Amino acid sequence: MTRIFSGVKPTGHLTLGNYLGAVRRWVQEDQQRADALFSIVDLHALTVEHDPARVRRLSRQAATLLLAAGLDPARCTLFVQSHVDEHARLSYLLECTATDGEMRRMVQYKEKAGRERDRGGSVRLSLLTYPVLMAADILAYETDEVPVGDDQVQHVELTRDLAVRFNQRYGHTFTVPKATHPAVGARVMNLQEPTSKMGKSDDSGPGIVYLLDEPDVVRRKVMRAVTDSGRDVVYDRDERPGLANLLEVLAACGGAADPAEVAKGYASYGALKRDVAEAVVELLRPLRERHAELVADPAYVDGVLRDGADRARAIARPVVDRAYRAMGLLPAG
Ligand code: TYM
Repeated sequence: MTRIFSGVKPTGHLTLGNYLGAVRRWVQEDQQRADALFSIVDLHALTVEHDPARVRRLSRQAATLLLAAGLDPARCTLFVQSHVDEHARLSYLLECTATDGEMRRMVQYKEKAGRERDRGGSVRLSLLTYPVLMAADILAYETDEVPVGDDQVQHVELTRDLAVRFNQRYGHTFTVPKATHPAVGARVMNLQEPTSKMGKSDDSGPGIVYLLDEPDVVRRKVMRAVTDSGRDVVYDRDERPGLANLLEVLAACGGAADPAEVAKGYASYGALKRDVAEAVVELLRPLRERHAELVADPAYVDGVLRDGADRARAIARPVVDRAYRAMGLLPAG
């Protein structure tokens, strides 16, 4: 059976980008057809300046939201990364497989480290090695497919390279995974800055739709989305990024594959924005309602995470033990 692994980092409230780029497929496709594991990857949240209480709160919130979105513990494994030691164990072996140059080439590292330095801050070493930990997340589970948005594809490519290199050098140990992405919605852009990704850790609140935003907040954010001074509605990602983003979101909400087709149904930006706003509100409504129910039952969520970690550990431990032996580490007595 196909094995799927993916994760979400508790560095901020989950966004429409996370949902359309990743989570919706986890719910509607991946858990239905494969042996799927989904993780709240909390160790990754420590790679940038963080508040411990906030990371803890966001981790539980992410788990609750993923269940509210429809992940079903009877069909998939949902767990918190730090509950399973194998991620950190394997990460070190992969640090001994990757090169310094490879890490420094990662686009996300260059962007995030650059921003941090511009602010006069310091960059944690773990931000540089983060893609190795992500590779460990994936390789520990003999993963075939990694459903992610566009921004993570480079990290999955690196994971493939590391798996191939490790296998060649130390004998076949890891499955070589591949990234999968949605037909549309793989890169939802910030509504205020449509040339930047809608990212949950960004500061620009008005450009980000959070999954738990009230309907009126969603409407306001969409209606104020930055577009351009044109009048006709055409899909052109390079020349008219704001408009293209709205068309993509609407296409993704309705399950349509082609934003250019969606554009043909509109004569004005106003009408398009109104439809986008309503489509997003309706998309998120069941999720918000279910989230409100689940928040009232934290013991249920904790139980799901406990069982999930047990299942995850049972899969990862023999794989990581095998990697230890392959690399030449002496087995304990
Ligand atoms: P994270 O937490 O930033 O995002 C979680 C998932 O949401 C996707 N995504 C988006 N898709 C479309 N448009 C957007 N604006 C948008 N923003 C985020 C991401 O591509 C991702 O699929 N490094 C990962 C977490 C991770 C992981 C893993 C993923 C750690 N280990 C192993 C897969 C496998 C991250 O920071 O995702």
